[in-house]
Amino acid sequence: MRKTFQRSAWLTFLKKDQNKVLKIMHLTKDDIHISVKVLKELLANAHVLSVKTQNFHWNVEDMRFHMLHAFFSEQYTLLIEEIDEIAERIRMLGEYAPGSMAASLDLTMLKEVTYCHDGKEMLQQLTEDNHTIIGILRKSIEHVAKTQDQGTLDFLISCLRQHEKMAWMAKSHLKA
Ligand SMILES: [Fe+2]
Repeated sequence: MRKTFQRSAWLTFLKKDQNKVLKIMHLTKDDIHISVKVLKELLANAHVLSVKTQNFHWNVEDMRFHMLHAFFSEQYTLLIEEIDEIAERIRMLGEYAPGSMAASLDLTMLKEVTYCHDGKEMLQQLTEDNHTIIGILRKSIEHVAKTQDQGTLDFLISCLRQHEKMAWMAKSHLKA
């Protein structure tokens, strides 16, 4: 009974908050729905890729250990910054950002990795994962371009450029 009351009170509060956002941002409910959906998916994918890249930073064994260890560190640092911006954009649109690994694993299109020590395999995985995110982002950009949410559109385009660069960098290490 108490739980039901708390949930309905929370939903009322959330609705009020969202209505305020709609008014302030001059967006429709549909605009916000589309933007938040694609931002949550992007958050999940970037979160899983960040954890995976940090795992690679710790566990890589390769002739080029020092270079790859540093490269993976640079990559996951960029991803952590991106995740923060995505989550904050979701908040600006009046929704709460899913912050748990469980939520990210539920929404992601990427596969987690447990055992991987080979530098080449890691680079291949990062290249493929970034290409997957690029494909998802292109579709998301197409959807958001049909709304009035130019702020999210611009943000998604900057994320696209970042993942294109990350894919290029990982791929360039693979050339013999
Ligand atoms: Fe480190």
